[in-house]
Amino acid sequence: MPAFMEPFRIKSVEPIPFPSTEERRTALADAGHNLFRVPSRAITIDLLTDSGTNAMSAAQWSALLSGDESYAGATSFEHFRAVVRELTGFDEVIPVHQGRAAERILLGELLGAGDVSISNTHFDTTRAAIESAGATAVDLPVDQTSPSAFGGDIDLGLLEERLRGTRANGVRCVVLTITNNAGGGQPVSLANVTAVRQLCDRHRIMLLLDASRFAENAYLITEREPSEAGRSPREVAHALFSLADGCWASLKKDGLANIGGLIALRDTELARRCRQQLIAFEGFPTYGGLAGRDLDALAQGLLEVTDPAYLRYRASTARWFGEQLSEAGLSVLQPTGCHAVYVDAAQVLPHISPEQLPATALANELYLAGAVRVSDLGTLAFGRADPDGGVDIAAPRELVRFALPRRVYTKSHLEYVVDVAANVAAKAAQIPGYRIVEQAPVLRHFTAVLMPL
Ligand code: F0G
Repeated sequence: MPAFMEPFRIKSVEPIPFPSTEERRTALADAGHNLFRVPSRAITIDLLTDSGTNAMSAAQWSALLSGDESYAGATSFEHFRAVVRELTGFDEVIPVHQGRAAERILLGELLGAGDVSISNTHFDTTRAAIESAGATAVDLPVDQTSPSAFGGDIDLGLLEERLRGTRANGVRCVVLTITNNAGGGQPVSLANVTAVRQLCDRHRIMLLLDASRFAENAYLITEREPSEAGRSPREVAHALFSLADGCWASLKKDGLANIGGLIALRDTELARRCRQQLIAFEGFPTYGGLAGRDLDALAQGLLEVTDPAYLRYRASTARWFGEQLSEAGLSVLQPTGCHAVYVDAAQVLPHISPEQLPATALANELYLAGAVRVSDLGTLAFGRADPDGGVDIAAPRELVRFALPRRVYTKSHLEYVVDVAANVAAKAAQIPGYRIVEQAPVLRHFTAVLMPL
C-alpha cells in the first residue's frame, strides 16, 4: 500500500464552495482582511486548524447512538474512562469540553502566585491559564535554527540550570507539549522525556504532558528514534504516559472528534480538587461539559488514532505536501511533522518588513488566489503593539501554518492547494503588506481589522 494512500473510503460527503475571484475579493474585504472573520461558506479548502475539524469514522458515528445522556454515572463515561485508563495508565480520568478547560482547571489548582512552569513550549492557551493563576510560564525549547529529528525536545541543559538553586527556584511543574504545536509541530523524543523524568525526580517536580497530539508524537518516535523502531505507536504512547505524573489533552486533535478534552492523573487528591472545579465550571464529573454521545465517540476515536496505517498515511501526507509546497516556491520548515506544514513567510516575501505583517500577507494572498485558508502565526498573532504607539514588536518568526484536518481532505484537494501556492509564489514580489486599523488588547489576531498597503 502506498504510504500516503488514504487507508479509508468515504461514506458521507459534504459539498465545498468555489467562490469566484470577485467573491473572494469581496469576502476578504468584508472580513477586514482577517481570515478568522471570513465565513466558511466562502472557503474552498480550510487548513486553518486541525482542531475540531476531524472526520469521524463509521464506528464513531454509530457510537454516538449508544451515548448515555444520564446526568450522573453515564455508561458513556465508563467507556471513556476505561479507554483512557488503558491508554495512559492514569487512574483518575476527568472529561472536559476542550483542552483549555483542562488547562484552566488543572493548572489553576496546581499553580499560584510566584510559581513557575517550564516547558518545551507552552501552547498559547496553556500560557494564558498559567498566567491567570498568577504563575510564570518559561519556554526552553531546543535550538530550532537547524533541522533535527526531535525539534520538539526541551533543552535539558537549560532546564537543569533553571532547576538548580533553592527549592528549584519556584518551579512546580515541567510541561512537555507533544507534539510541540507552537514549535513547528515537531515531536519530543522518548529519550528527552526520560531525561526530564530523572530531573523532575531529583527536584521533586511534577512532569505533565500536554498530550493533544500524543499519537502523532508516538508515531514520529517510531520513525525517528532508532531504539523505538520496532514498537507500535500505542506501545510508545504507553511508554510516554508512564513517564509522566499526569496529562491533559485537547481531544479535538488526536481524539478524532469535533469536541472534547481530558485531564488524567495519578494523584487522587489533586484529582479530587480538580473535580470540585469541574463541578463548578464544566459539569458533573461523569460528563464534564460534554454530551454522553461525545464521550462514546471519543472513546472510539482514542482506539482508532494509534492505528499504524493511519499514522503512516498522516505523516507521509504531511511530508509529500511539504515537498510539493517547497517545489511550488514556498520555504517549508523541515522536517515536517504530522498535523501541519509550516512555511516561513519572511523568506517568501523578503520585501515585507515584520510590522507590515508578511505572514498575514501570504495567508491572505492564498485566500485571494484560490479560497484556501491557512493560519497566520506571524507578528499579527505573536507580535505586540508598541505601548508607546511606535512600530509593532515583531514575532520571532513569520510562519504560516497549513494545518491538516484528520481524514478530511484527499490528495487531490492538497494538489489544488499546491497549484494555488505556486501561483502565489510566482507573483511574490507584487504581494502587498498590511497595516492594522483596529485591534483588541489581547489575542488581537482573532478580531483585528487590516488594510493592504
Ligand atoms: N494544547 C495544544 C498543544 C493545542 O494545540 C491546543 C489548541 C490546546 C492545547 C487548546 O485546546 O483548543 O481544545 O481548547 N490548538 C488549536 C490549534 C487551537 O489550532 O492549534 P482547545
